[in-house]
Amino acid sequence: MSGLLLLAVLGCKKPVDTDTDTDTDTDTPDTDTGDGLVHDPLSMPRTPTHDPSEFQSAQVCATCHPDHVTEWSSSMHAYAMVDPVFQRLVELRQVDLGGREDQFCTQCHSAIGTRGGECVSAFEFDALPPIVLEGITCESCHKVSAVVRPYNAGHELDPTGPMRGTGTSTSPFHATETLPVLGQSDFCGSCHDVRETSGLPLERPFAEWRESRAAEEGRPCQSCHMPERIGPAAIGAADRTLHEHRFIGVDLPLTEGFVDAPTRELMTQRITALLESAADIELDLVEATPGQLGTAVVTVHNRIDAHNFPTGSTFLRQVWVELVVQADGVTVFETGTLDANGDLRDRWSALDPYGDDDLISLSSQFTDANGDLTLFSWVATEHTSAALSPEYTRTWSLFVPIPAGAQELTAQARLRFRPLPPHLLRTLGMTDEAAALPIYDVDTASWAAQLP
Ligand code: HEC
Ligand code: HEC
Ligand code: HEC
Ligand code: HEC
Ligand code: HEC
Repeated sequence: MSGLLLLAVLGCKKPVDTDTDTDTDTDTPDTDTGDGLVHDPLSMPRTPTHDPSEFQSAQVCATCHPDHVTEWSSSMHAYAMVDPVFQRLVELRQVDLGGREDQFCTQCHSAIGTRGGECVSAFEFDALPPIVLEGITCESCHKVSAVVRPYNAGHELDPTGPMRGTGTSTSPFHATETLPVLGQSDFCGSCHDVRETSGLPLERPFAEWRESRAAEEGRPCQSCHMPERIGPAAIGAADRTLHEHRFIGVDLPLTEGFVDAPTRELMTQRITALLESAADIELDLVEATPGQLGTAVVTVHNRIDAHNFPTGSTFLRQVWVELVVQADGVTVFETGTLDANGDLRDRWSALDPYGDDDLISLSSQFTDANGDLTLFSWVATEHTSAALSPEYTRTWSLFVPIPAGAQELTAQARLRFRPLPPHLLRTLGMTDEAAALPIYDVDTASWAAQLP
C-alpha cells in the first residue's frame, strides 16, 4: 500500500484509541484528585503502597547472576532515573504544573520509588534513595506478580514474594515462581504504552504490536529485544536458554562514564544493526528533462512486522529523509540537510525555521490548545504521528528543478535516525551532549543518469 502524506492522529482532546480489544479502556488514567494532586491507586498512590527498602539492589544479584547484572547495567532500564534528559524534563514539568503531577513521570521510570512514597510533590532527584535511582532494576521486573492494564505501569509489585521468572528453576538463595506473563508482550506493554494524565496517548508499541503479524504468530517483544543464547542462569547452574538483558533499542546513555568505551562501541554496533533491519529506502527520478521540473520519487518501507517505525518516544526521535540532487556536480535540490547548529530546518531551527518545505519526517508532533507546536506532552492536546505501520510502505513525490543544459544528474537519498534533537538538548542546557548526538543511516539509495 502506498500514498502521499498519510498522517495518523494518535490523539486529541477526546482521546481516540484504535484498540479493539476490550481490556484496553479508552478513559483517562484512573485519577483520584482528593488532595489537589493527581493520583492513580495502582501506579501513583496517594499513600505509599510499598516500602522501597523491601526491594533489593542489583548489586545483591551480581554475586550469582553476574552476566545479567553486567548486561542490565548498560541498558536504558538502568539509566531510566539518572538520565539527565528525563530529570530535566521532569523538573520543567514540576515547575509548570506546580508539583501537582510529580508522580506521573516516575511511575514507570521507578515504580519502586513512586509506590514507595519517594517521588512526592516537589521531590528532588539528588535526595532519592539508591534503589529508586536504580530505575527499572532487577526487582522492578522480577517482583511483578500480575499485569492488570496495558499502559502506565499497569502491573502489581510483590516485594516479599518469590522471584518470578519464566523458567522452573529453584535457587537456594531465593524462592522462585513461574509467571508466564513475564515472557509475553503484555508485561512490556504495561510500561511501554504511555498515556498522559489528559488521556492523550504518548507511546503505544504494545497497541501497535497487538495489530501486527508478530502478534498473530506469537512473537513477543522479548523475541527481538532480549535475544536468546544458551548458558548458565547463575554461577554453577546448568545450561539453559538465557535472555539478553541489554534491552537494545535506539538509545545510548548520554552521561559520560555510565558505560565504558568498549560497551558503548558494542551497543553502537547493536543499535546500528537493529536500525538497519528496520526500514528500506528507494529512490527514482522521473521526467528528468533539462529546463523542467523533474520528480524524485522516494519510497520508505517499514520492515518491522511488530510495531511502527519509529515507535515509542516518537516525539523525541528524529527520523527523516535526506535527499540531495546535483546537476553536473552542483546541488540543485536538497531536503533533510541540517543547519549550522545541526538541527533540521523545521519549526525548531533557530537559524532557518521552516526553511525546508519538502522535509519528509516520520516522527510525531504535539500541538497545544492554541494549535501551536509544542515539545511538552503536558501542554499538548493533540499528538500527530507520521510513523509507518508494521510492514507498511509510503511514497512521496518531490519536485526537482533541472537546469537547462544539464548533462549529468545524480541523486543521493538517506533515511536517517537521531535519538534526540539537538535543539531540545540546548533548551535543557545540555549543549555538549547536543553536539555529540549520533546520527544513524538506516538505509541509503542513489540514482544517476546522463541527460539527453
Ligand atoms: C546466592 C546466589 C543467588 C543470588 C544472590 C540471587 N540468585 Fe537468582 N538464582 C540463583 C540460582 C542458583 C538460580 C537457579 C538458576 C538455574 O537453576 O537455572 C536463580 C534463579 C533466578 C531466576 C530465574 C527463575 C527462572 O527459572 O525463571 C531469577 C529471575 C532470579 N534468580 C533473579 C534474581 C534476582 C533479581 C536477584 C537479586 C535480587 C537474585 N536472583 C539473586 C541464585 C541466586
Ligand atoms: C520483529 C522484531 C521486533 C519486535 C517483536 C519488537 N520490536 Fe521493538 N524494535 C524493533 C526494531 C527493528 C527497532 C528499531 C526501529 C524503531 O525504532 O522502530 C525497535 C525499536 C523499539 C523501541 C525504541 C523506539 C524508539 O525509536 O525510541 C522500543 C521502545 C521498542 N522497540 C519496544 C518494543 C516493544 C514494547 C515490543 C513489544 C510490544 C517490541 N518492541 C517488539 C524490532 C522489534
Ligand atoms: C525490564 C524487565 C527486566 C529487568 C529490569 C530484569 N529482567 Fe531478568 N528477565 C526479564 C524477563 C522478561 C525474563 C524472561 C524472558 C523470557 O522468558 O522471554 C528474564 C529472565 C531472567 C533470568 C532467567 C534466565 C534468562 O536469562 O532467561 C534471570 C536469572 C534474570 N532475568 C535475572 C535478572 C537480574 C539479575 C536482573 C537485574 C540485573 C534482571 N533480571 C533485570 C525481565 C527483566
Ligand atoms: C517498569 C516499567 C518497564 C517495564 C516492565 C519494561 N520497560 Fe522497557 N523501558 C522502560 C523505560 C522507562 C525505558 C526508558 C528509560 C530511559 O531511556 O530513560 C525503557 C527502555 C526500553 C528499551 C530501550 C529503548 C531505546 O530507545 O533504546 C527497550 C528496548 C525496552 N525498554 C524493552 C523492554 C522489553 C522488551 C520489556 C519487557 C520484557 C520491557 N522493556 C519492560 C520501562 C519499562
Ligand atoms: C507509562 C510509563 C512511562 C511514563 C508515565 C513516562 N515514561 Fe518516559 N519512557 C517510558 C518508556 C517505556 C520509554 C522508552 C521509549 C523509547 O525508548 O522509545 C521512555 C523514555 C523516555 C525518555 C527517553 C530517554 C532518552 O534519554 O532518550 C525520556 C526523556 C522520558 N521517557 C521522559 C519522560 C518524562 C519527562 C515523563 C513525564 C512527562 C515520562 N517519561 C513518563 C515510559 C514512561
